[in-house]
This record gives sequence, C-alpha cells and structure tokens, in this order.
Amino acid sequence: MHKIFAKPIFLGKKVVFLPQCHSTNDELVMLTKKSQLPEGTVVYTDHQEKGKGQRGNVWVAEPGKNVLMSILLLPKFLNPQDQFFLNLIAGLAIVDTLGQYFSGQIQLKWPNDIYVNQKKISGVLVESNTRGSVLESCVVGIGLNLNQNGFHVPNATSLLIETEIEHDKFDVMDFLLRDIEKWYLKLKSNRKNEVLAAYHALLMWRGEKRLFKSSEQEFIGEIIGIDSYGRLVINVQDKLKSFGIKEVEFVR
Ligand code: BTN
Repeated sequence: MHKIFAKPIFLGKKVVFLPQCHSTNDELVMLTKKSQLPEGTVVYTDHQEKGKGQRGNVWVAEPGKNVLMSILLLPKFLNPQDQFFLNLIAGLAIVDTLGQYFSGQIQLKWPNDIYVNQKKISGVLVESNTRGSVLESCVVGIGLNLNQNGFHVPNATSLLIETEIEHDKFDVMDFLLRDIEKWYLKLKSNRKNEVLAAYHALLMWRGEKRLFKSSEQEFIGEIIGIDSYGRLVINVQDKLKSFGIKEVEFVR
C-alpha cells in the first residue's frame, strides 16, 4: 500500500514506494543521479533484498513488517567534516518518534543505534556525496523494527515486542518525517550545541566503565562523549582517546 505523507513542511513531499528493492538507500542514490529530486524525497519499501547496515553489515528485516526508508537531504550549509551531525539528528528524531509510543528508556548507542531495554530497535545509515568542500546530497536510511515478532539475533527488539501491540507503519513514518525535519531545521539554524547536548544526554553507557576492543586489544574505559569529528571519546587510564567508527568495538 502507498500513502502520501501530508504533515511535514518539506520532508515527504515527494514519496516513492517500491514494493521490494535491493536497498532504499541505493535506489534513492540512483534516482538522484537520474533526475534532480527535491530535498526531502522519500523512498520506502516493504522488502529489501540487500538492506545495508553500518560497517558493511547487512540489514535484515521481515518483509512487510518494518519501516525501511531513505530520505534525501541537501545540506549545503553543512561543512563535510560536520556530516556526522546528520547521524545524530536522525538518531534523536527516532528517539522522539519512539517516545510517542512508550515511556520506557530509549538510548543512543554510539554512533547512532537506537536501543530500548538494552536491545536494538532501529539503525541509521547515512551515505553522502561531497563535491569539493560542499556536501551535495545525503541519503539518510532508517531501519526501524516495527511489527516483527522475533529475530534471529539475540539483541534485537521491535515496537511490537516492547508495547505488545501492532502499530500503523504510516503513522510511524509520519512521526519520523516530522521529527527528522524538526532536528534538521535546528541544525540548519546552527543550533549544533543543542543537538550535541541532546545526543550526549541519551548516549548509552556514558560515564560507566566498560570493556572495549581496539586493534585486537581489550581495554577498560569510560565513555566521555563525542568529539568535534563525531568520534567516540573514551577515558582510558586518565587519558582521553578518540576512536572512529571502525576503530573500536564494545565488548561488554
Ligand atoms: C545499522 O547498521 O544500524 C544501519 C541500518 C540501516 C538500515 C536502513 S533500512 C533503509 C535503508 N536502506 C538500506 O539499505 N539501509 C538503510
């Protein structure tokens, strides 16, 4: 089924529904190459055959049960070095949307996995196209486990599992578009400190001693937050160290 989203100001004015596809991110990237699409164009699907996750992982979702969508943003106002802010605002928007459905704790696991009760409910994959020093276009892909009732991995959950009722996919997508637009407009009006403060307030394991792994070495450290490049800052034996996305793993 296909629906026109009405509420947001510019996100979702143009919507492309594909009953199935390889990846909504790939489809939207292809569409941007073929024609000039308006900012806020949305591609969504019922089933991805090759859904992409972070770090080259696959994103697997039961057909017809989940939110699988990609949104085109044209953040020419943003320095390419600051593109990680798009990950932050997407994560924050998803937290706000989920907050409409239940009152439990929702957290962001660095860089931008959305966790409920220590289980992952949603993930974000941003793919950017930079020309020189200009961020030309960004595709923000969102996978949100909605009405799926079981997973093959132990640490995944869905809104159905958490609330014990099914939810209307289009309502959730409407909320998501509205909330992404809200955070995107804050970013556009240069309220980066507000975005960072909100992100840090929700950052999972912040201030706790945890076990990490980097370059095959395990170490104990305390998450301090993120630095001006979006890297994770960990206090390791009273020294602050920054890690990029492929440079550190959470062990426990
Ligand atoms: C993650 O690894 O947490 C990121 C998952 C992102 C999945 C979404 S589903 C819609 C969009 N299309 C893709 O191929 N990936 C993203």
